[in-house]
Amino acid sequence: MGKVGFGVAVSCAVASCAIAAILVSRRVKSRRKWNRVVGVLRELEEECSTPVGRLRQVVDAMAVEMHAGLASEGGSKLKMLLTFIDNLPSGSEKGTYYALHLDSTDFKVLRVQLGGKRSTISEPNVEQQPIPQHLMTSTSEDLFDFVASSLKQFVEREGNDSELQLVKRRDLGFTFSFPVKQMSASSGILIKWTKGFAIKDMVGKDVVGCLQQAMTKRGLDMRVAALVNDTVGTLALEHYHDEDTVAAVIIGTGTNACYVERADAIIKSQGLLKSSGAMVVNIEWGNFWSSHLPRTSYDIDLDADSPNPNDQARGFEKMISGMYLGDIVRRGAAYCALMLISVVTTSGKQILFIRYAIGSGMDETSVMADMHEDDSPDLREVAKILEDTLEISDIPLKVRKLIVKVCDVVTRRAARLAAAGIVGILKKIGRDGSSGITSGRAKTGDESSSKMRTVVAIEGGLYIRYSNFREYLNEAVAEILGAEMAPHVILRVSEDGSGIGAAILAASHS
Ligand code: BGC
Repeated sequence: MGKVGFGVAVSCAVASCAIAAILVSRRVKSRRKWNRVVGVLRELEEECSTPVGRLRQVVDAMAVEMHAGLASEGGSKLKMLLTFIDNLPSGSEKGTYYALHLDSTDFKVLRVQLGGKRSTISEPNVEQQPIPQHLMTSTSEDLFDFVASSLKQFVEREGNDSELQLVKRRDLGFTFSFPVKQMSASSGILIKWTKGFAIKDMVGKDVVGCLQQAMTKRGLDMRVAALVNDTVGTLALEHYHDEDTVAAVIIGTGTNACYVERADAIIKSQGLLKSSGAMVVNIEWGNFWSSHLPRTSYDIDLDADSPNPNDQARGFEKMISGMYLGDIVRRGAAYCALMLISVVTTSGKQILFIRYAIGSGMDETSVMADMHEDDSPDLREVAKILEDTLEISDIPLKVRKLIVKVCDVVTRRAARLAAAGIVGILKKIGRDGSSGITSGRAKTGDESSSKMRTVVAIEGGLYIRYSNFREYLNEAVAEILGAEMAPHVILRVSEDGSGIGAAILAASHS
């Protein structure tokens, strides 16, 4: 080999070594990055972990806070609002009744015919429409004008239906899915907005007064016979079907629960209540807080960026409900993605995407649910969602798996915490197999309470439509209660209960 040939061979070898060294070093760097990401994910998993011991602490804390909220006004973060519903419908209600349900995004009007026997409730006539976005931050007058005119159109569409013309007075159950301090079963003032609503002039006003005024303005002759929280509507419907129903839970855009409490346990209102022996209490558990809740830096950031930042304001809701879950996932996944830039896509596009690709609130959560429920071996649905939203077609399988894992960790925590909340209610009323609580402290070890059949109704998109969430929740309730007690507690899905239940309550309060 001549000198020139030797020189060329040496330079080629050096160049190949250099390329090999660069490739190796890139691979090493990329492996290191990947390992760091796996570390972050493991950390998230640990921080979100909810072993049954921790869940039992949350159960006790929930029961204790419920007790404190019933003992004195402001005695707990849990408002434990009186509903003045001291008798749930008996099943003997008869006639045509209306309901109007105002929730975070939708507005529903419905009519039901009650036949006087539990089984003879007609298929309700329902109309649903979205609430125009601008009305959520406008004035109370604008919002209720819209509500009243939709209601009027609904009634006018009854046309010449001869049976409906015989209805003498139209009684309405009004489901208002926000915290209200009730003065009676048919009046109450808004305490504050949740779930993205922010109509300032409405806070502190009588919700029924506003609706009644708007209906009068439109010449609509209807009377609000019952004002109910959505949890209370759900409880009423499910109790109508099954008298062993003692509590109702909503897990959708927002989350909350109500239950039937003994009147003598509502210490803050002693003397004020007619004594039928019991009353439905709206817990407003979105506000629940306990140091036993597993909180991560993503929760803290989410809280800081929320419209109601404050350490623990609506802390439970922010860990559980559809308004926030997708956002927590986005923050967790975006953080992992940040560390992965340059390793994840061959096209070199950054995947800071999650921060921007997915909308907000419930939309974000339903995208998350779709990715989480992708059971194809190559996570085709995840790839499709990422491609549709980000226009990146080459996200490797291992990254797709990582995103699904983040969805799983956040969803599992939410569902298990909601399960602990449910068992907390059961503990408060002595239906969890323990002896409940005395003087605000959870008792342990005493298994004396009776094993009565106990039904808890659950409504809300997150529970009804997100099967992973539902399975995690059901599993955790059984795990906390233990094998002996779990068979006595039935979790029942309720559809449209909040609206239909309000119509039934209008009937029983007319
Ligand atoms: C509201 C509750 C409601 C729940 C479920 C929460 O944000 O404060 O009143 O029951 O959402 O809709």
